Order: sequence, then structure tokens, then C-alpha cells
Amino acid sequence: MTAEALAGAAYLVAALLFILSLAGLSKHETSRAGVAYGIAGMAIAIVATAWLMVQDAIFSPAGLVGLVILVVAMLVGAAIGLWRARVVEMTGMPELIALLHSFVGAAAVLVGWNGALFDSGLEGSLRDIHHAEVFIGVFIGGVTFTGSIVAFLKLSARMSSKPLVLPGKNVLNIGALVLFLALTVWYVITPELWLLVVVTALALLLGWHLVASIGGGDMPVVVSMLNSYSGWAAAAAGFLLNNDLLIITGALVGSSGAYLSYIMCKAMNRSFFSVIAGGFGIEAPKSGGDEDLGEHRELDAETAAEMLANASSVVITPGYGMAVAQAQHGVADLARRLRERGVEVRFGVHPVAGRLPGHMNVLLAEAKVPYDIVLEMDEINDDLADTSVVLVIGANDTVNPAAAEDPGSPIAGMPVLRVWEAENVIVFKRSMASGYAGVQNPLFFRENAQMLFGDAKERVEDILKVL
Ligand code: TAP
Repeated sequence: MTAEALAGAAYLVAALLFILSLAGLSKHETSRAGVAYGIAGMAIAIVATAWLMVQDAIFSPAGLVGLVILVVAMLVGAAIGLWRARVVEMTGMPELIALLHSFVGAAAVLVGWNGALFDSGLEGSLRDIHHAEVFIGVFIGGVTFTGSIVAFLKLSARMSSKPLVLPGKNVLNIGALVLFLALTVWYVITPELWLLVVVTALALLLGWHLVASIGGGDMPVVVSMLNSYSGWAAAAAGFLLNNDLLIITGALVGSSGAYLSYIMCKAMNRSFFSVIAGGFGIEAPKSGGDEDLGEHRELDAETAAEMLANASSVVITPGYGMAVAQAQHGVADLARRLRERGVEVRFGVHPVAGRLPGHMNVLLAEAKVPYDIVLEMDEINDDLADTSVVLVIGANDTVNPAAAEDPGSPIAGMPVLRVWEAENVIVFKRSMASGYAGVQNPLFFRENAQMLFGDAKERVEDILKVL
């Protein structure tokens, strides 16, 4: 068997492992196995690629240089990757993921440029197809690169999460797409380098504009959409490099990311097309959400503990603040303690609570909260009206009644946990500050709601001391 055939077989095994990995990651119970399959697939793919390069190195000096570059790049990359993975906080994951997507975009642009600068040796229609691949790869890669950089800046609060509204933004986006199509045809007919320069600049600007135009509330969809773009960028690079594994893996990431974006759009009552088209057709919000909403009420940990002790049913709705405070272990202890006292305790998890899909589920699983009392928003929403006490732990946008009741709100139409229907609501947060979408929350001013100010972990521990 030749080295190529051996590597081809290894790539096929790796691709199958990636499919098993995706299947495993779709359920809590099998997610660890899913990660293991992914690691195994990637290890096989790297070894097979390195093996091909070793074969090249044996037979040519240029191959040897390539192998040395590969080894050095892998060592440096692996060292940086290991260091980042060890130090990253769970709350910093989304921005790290966005940054990693930008690398895939940048790689696709470089592979495309490489394909344009070096003679492919192809003739006739194959040469035309090659030029189209170069152009499309550079375009998708460029959009992914700057789009991901903006997502990184927004998620890490280095840039405002408010949407950028340029006059005629939809015309700008559509104009850029039409221009791209026209330039692609032009490049296939006369592959001049300046056309590639223009499309690179166009893609970089479009990526920046698309993501900058999207508001904080829609960022979760953007992160998974960029995941999808990065997959298509990798697939485009795979066509240029004639690498089947890159094509299969890119298509897997691209299609699963697109499907995840679609599910999230449905869950958040957003139009899929509007979000991927940079907020196309979304009108500027009529109310800023900073109107005077009256007085809020406060309570202390002792009173909260007393309310909980007398409650018959409690629902806990965690949000990003629980992750910041690392309060999940205390919250799990609180749930256990209340259940021992005969109180019915359940968790209600909003699909975009936190900063990445499944964020809350991971934290609750880490704190050993049983899966069967952790319910999705749709499963718990109708029960909230019959609940004695809802504990809102570091959540804000995901429990905001304005989404359901104020059509002018920036988050209007986004489904939320209807916690305000419960008999009593206790909100754990440090101040009256707004959440990620930057909108004030009328829940905090409702008759049945009381604020328990301070770090969520400390306040939960205070309650545990009293119980
Ligand atoms: P947010 O609306 O962001 O609210 C979190 C709240 O936690 C803040 O109001 C903050 O108030 C409080 N907080 C922060 N640190 C705290 C601490 N140490 N102790 C107690 N409270 C603390 O969170 P959410 O309800 O989970 O909603 C998620 C938001 O993020 C949505 O707008 C969503 O669209 C967006 N988003 C989600 C994702 C995904 S995929 N899940 C990705 C990107 C963006 P104080 O500062 O007053 O304490």
C-alpha cells in the first residue's frame, strides 16, 4: 500500500470518529465519549499528515524543509494551545472560540493566496474551477476572519455589544455580495492578482460589518454562525489542497454549525436569514430600556432562607452571574439541603443563559446536580406560575419580562423564563446594572420580586449557614 493510500484510509477513520464525536456531544450522558472520539480522530489525522510529510522529506530537500516547518509550527501551536486551555476561565470560552475561528478564516485566506501565487499546473476547465475555488476560499476566509475578531472583541467587552447601524446597512451587505459574484466571474475569466486584492479587502470589510451590526442579545447565534463559516472556510481550503479530510471535516463543522444557528434562532424567535445577513431587516429598537421603572425592594440572606424554608416548590434559574461567581457548588448544596427538607426543587435553564450554548448545564453537571431536575425553558415555563419561590442566580436578560411584553424593546420577541409569574422571586446580583443586551429589567421592580445584592456565591453561602 502506498503512503497516500495509507493516509487516505487513516483520514477516513478520522472522519468517522469526528461523526461519532458530534453524535456523542449531542447528549449530556455521552458528551465525554464524544470529546474522546474527537481527540482520537484529530490525533489520527495529525499522525497521517505528518507521515505523508515524512515520506516527502525522505525523497526531497524541499520536503525536509516542509517537515521541519510543520514540526516547529505544531510545537509552538500546541504549547500556546495547552497554555490557553489551562488558564481560560469557563466564562472566557466564547471569546476564545471566536478567536480560534478567526485563525481558521486567516488560514483559508492564506491557502487561497498560496493557490493563486503558485502555478497549479492545471489546464482548461479544471484551471477555471481552481480559480473559482481560490476566490471563494479567500472570500469565506476573509469574512470569517474579521467577523470572528469582532465577535471576540464584543464578547470580551473590548467593544460595545450595541449593534452598529450604518445608514443603508442592508444595501451595503447585498452590494458586497453582488460585487463578490461579479468579481468571481471576472477572476475566472482573467485571473489577475489585483482582483484577489479587492476581494480580500471586500471580505474583510463585510465580515467586520456583518458582526458589528448584530446586537448583544443575538451574539450566541453569531458565535455558532461563525463556527459554521469557519467550517466552510476549512472545506474551501480542503478543495485547494486536495485534502479529503479537510473537506469532510469542514463540511461537518459547516453544516452542524449552520444547524445549531438555526435551532438557536428558533429558540430565540429570531429570523435565521436576518441574523446571518448581519441583522438584515431588523429595525432599530424603539425603547432603550432605560425608562424610570420605580423602586426596587431588597431583602437579606436570613429573610431569603426563611422564605425558602417555608416554600413548597422552588425553581432556580441560573445565568452568567452564577458562572462569574462560581456559585454552582453552593447552589447545588442549597438544592440538596432544600430537597432533604421536602421542598420540591428544580432548575430552569434558558437556551442562551451564560455565554455559550450549554454553559449552565456544564456548570450544574460539574456541581453534581441530578440531570432529572434540570429542565429546559420550555419544560418549566408553564409551571412557574405555581412555584412558591424562584431564585434568579446571576441571570438578567433571560428572565426579562420586557422581551415578552414590550414590542419596542431591543430583546422583544426573545422567549424568556416567565419567572415573574411565580409567587415570589429573589434576584441574586451585585447591583442594578443591566445584562449583556444592555437593557434594564422591569422584573426587579415588580411587587413579587426582591433583590439580594452581593456576589452570588457569598449570598448562597450566607443562606446555607442559616438553613
Ligand atoms: P446576563 O443577562 O448577561 O446577566 C448576568 C447578570 O449576572 C448581570 O446582570 C450581573 O449583574 C450578574 N452578575 C455578574 N457577576 C455576578 C456575581 N459575581 N454575582 C452575582 N451576580 C452577578 O446573563 P443571562 O441572563 O445568563 O443572559 C445571557 C446573555 O448573554 C443574553 O443576553 C445572551 O443573548 C447573551 N449571550 C449568550 C451567549 C450564549 S450562547 N449563551 C453567548 C453570547 C452572549 P451585576 O453586574 O449587577 O452583578
